[in-house]
Amino acid sequence: MNINLVKKEALDEIDKAKNLKDIEQIFKKYLSKKGKITLILRTLKNLPENKKALMGKKANELKNLLKKVLEEKNIQFSTKGQKDGLVKKWIDVTAPGIKTPQGHLHPITQVKQQIEEIFQSMGFSISEGPEIETEYYNFDALNVPKDHPARDMWDTFWIKEIKSSPQRSKLLLRTHTSPVQARYMETHNPPLRVIVPGRCFRYEATDASHDVQFHQIEGLMVDKNISLANLKGLLEHFMKRLYGESVVTRWQPSYFPFVEPGLELLMRCEVCKGKGCSTCGNGWIEVIPCGMVHPNVFKAVGYNPKNWQGFAFGMGLDRLTMMKYKINDIRLLYSGDLRFLNQF
Ligand code: FA5
Repeated sequence: MNINLVKKEALDEIDKAKNLKDIEQIFKKYLSKKGKITLILRTLKNLPENKKALMGKKANELKNLLKKVLEEKNIQFSTKGQKDGLVKKWIDVTAPGIKTPQGHLHPITQVKQQIEEIFQSMGFSISEGPEIETEYYNFDALNVPKDHPARDMWDTFWIKEIKSSPQRSKLLLRTHTSPVQARYMETHNPPLRVIVPGRCFRYEATDASHDVQFHQIEGLMVDKNISLANLKGLLEHFMKRLYGESVVTRWQPSYFPFVEPGLELLMRCEVCKGKGCSTCGNGWIEVIPCGMVHPNVFKAVGYNPKNWQGFAFGMGLDRLTMMKYKINDIRLLYSGDLRFLNQF
């Protein structure tokens, strides 16, 4: 083997090496146990004495040279690799962070929570009831007999009966939160104070103050010696806490089969300040219908109406929210339009 040729070949290959893997291959080819230089050194013993020393010297020099050059290349490729890695991993810890967009509570939820806080501070607990309700709780238990014209006050979404499993009581989407009055009294003994927020559904045409789905907050207080004066005092106080001392309200008589007497709290429309607009019509908006619990409702849940009195109310949460933020159309609340919702 010609040492000069091997040297030239090895240095050429080292020169063309592109990475650590190439360097490793070259090392194997020339310097490993079966490498070319090792073979040269092994065959020295067959040479005549006068050539042996010269060839031995040359082969050892080449071996050391290749080791040195390969070592240098090795370092070069290793630090380059490290540097590349470092560039990729480098993080500027002083750079300002990327803000994650954050959502917020829907205006209806915000007002609901404020109302819950006000009533909780007055000793009311909070309960819930099912949105899919039976005809019994939505109407019968509330003194609204079948085929009574009062049932037409609530345009109802009925749920189709499955023929194979007829219900004892027909199912519907609850038209108000009042059925929870009966459910709550059936499972709790008086005296009691409770509010019930929840979603309601009515099969009716929509306009600025009516939608097919909306929210009510039912209220019920049962105790001894409760009077209409307590009811009026409580709701007027509530309105001042929600809207401030300057809120303008008035009362008018009303009719609901589950209360006697029945009345309604109206507030001056905040959108037009009482002038009259497309939201309210005549400057006033009905927000809290209420009354003294009818003795027939007490009888239906097993309370003795001679021992207990109580009042109930069912406030329209969407309308209270509209008045709080001067929103002129209920449908905006359900539009899902972020340009609208981001204002609250
Ligand atoms: C009732 O639903 C009675 N359950 C309230 C009640 C409870 C009376 C306890 C007496 C004792 P009314 O149908 O008026 O009442 O509805 C109550 C409130 O719900 C209304 O004042 C109004 O604010 C709101 N409301 C009713 N229908 C809609 C609708 N389609 N869209 C938005 N809000 C509505």
